[in-house]
Amino acid sequence: MDETLVERVPKLGFIGVGWIGRNRLEAIAKENIADIKAISDPNAEYAEEALQFAPNAALLPSLDALIATDLDGVIIATPSALHAAQSIEAIEKGKAVFCQKPLGRNAEEVKEVVQKAMENDVLLSVDFSYRFTNGIKALKAVLDSDELGEIYGGNLVFHNAYGPDKSWYFDPKLAGGGCVMDLGVHLVDLLVWLFENPEVTEVSSQLFSKGKLIVNTDQQVEDYAVAQMLVKGSIAVQMACSWNLPAGVDAVIEVSFYGTKGGVSFKNVNGSFYDFITERFDGTSRKAISTPGENWGGKAGVHWAEELASKGNSFNPEAYNYVKSAEILDLIYKRG
Ligand SMILES: NC(=O)c1ccc[n+]([C@@H]2O[C@H](COP(=O)([O-])OP(=O)(O)OC[C@H]3O[C@@H](n4cnc5c(N)ncnc54)[C@H](O)[C@@H]3O)[C@@H](O)[C@H]2O)c1
Repeated sequence: MDETLVERVPKLGFIGVGWIGRNRLEAIAKENIADIKAISDPNAEYAEEALQFAPNAALLPSLDALIATDLDGVIIATPSALHAAQSIEAIEKGKAVFCQKPLGRNAEEVKEVVQKAMENDVLLSVDFSYRFTNGIKALKAVLDSDELGEIYGGNLVFHNAYGPDKSWYFDPKLAGGGCVMDLGVHLVDLLVWLFENPEVTEVSSQLFSKGKLIVNTDQQVEDYAVAQMLVKGSIAVQMACSWNLPAGVDAVIEVSFYGTKGGVSFKNVNGSFYDFITERFDGTSRKAISTPGENWGGKAGVHWAEELASKGNSFNPEAYNYVKSAEILDLIYKRG
């Protein structure tokens, strides 16, 4: 048997086990697909809490200490400003990387990480978890089937009526931006992934903070943003996202596309962050093609760990999508 096809149990380390880091650690631990060897977080309480899911893991003081050990891969879930540098540090030591979004605060940072992963031939993935929902998979199948005819319109929405609860999210240097970097990043990733790296032009946007237009996004993070763009030269896509919008519900999440022969729409149900329905529209009638009730949050990390186990640690060119998304985000932020 070809040795490269033999399933291995990857040895993994987690750096940053705050809210999402612990959530992803639990998801990977429950699947029993990896050996979780090490955890590092300056917050001792969080690190101890993470041990309940990986009792044999060593608690280490830093990323340096973590990557000096015999690990196959590193899962990064620290504040956003650290992602690019920490990813590069791990990649240069030959470790596969699964990083939280955003991979970098701008396209320059993201390009550098993807370039390093390519040069060092390591597996790099970002936690774009919505790609792994059954609802988005059902929507993609409709788009891929061409049954909508000529697609000409798209609507991307992510309003989180609460907004983040940690101070670093509100510092442009630590977060790279506000609701666009936090929530819009998922919508832009889906756009790039669904249409397979499409050309995106004519990007215009307005960014607000506390009801006022932002003049300098290096100094303030946005809590409300709208953007308009032309995809593949023929699809007009509108995007809106926010924190703390008086939306009347916890969250409004939507990815919809319209064509000459029908529409398809992925939406959250009853304001939920977790439950989605995907419907196929035909004139004024609708039919559900995917319904709520799945636990999808940790699937991207599990997929990365399974890819590492089955194919080994080698660069997957799909990572170039991350550069395209980051370039679109830069245009929305009017950078460069
Ligand atoms: N994929 C998703 O849908 C999703 C959802 C939520 C958050 N995120 C992303 O995950 C990241 C973390 O978000 P969070 O809400 O869990 O934040 P958090 O503040 O709860 O967690 C960050 C953790 O990193 C630790 N940390 C800080 N500096 C560190 C360092 N140098 N080394 C090791 N650990 C360090 C902190 O102590 C903290 O425990 C953010 O970039 C965020 O954008 C992604």
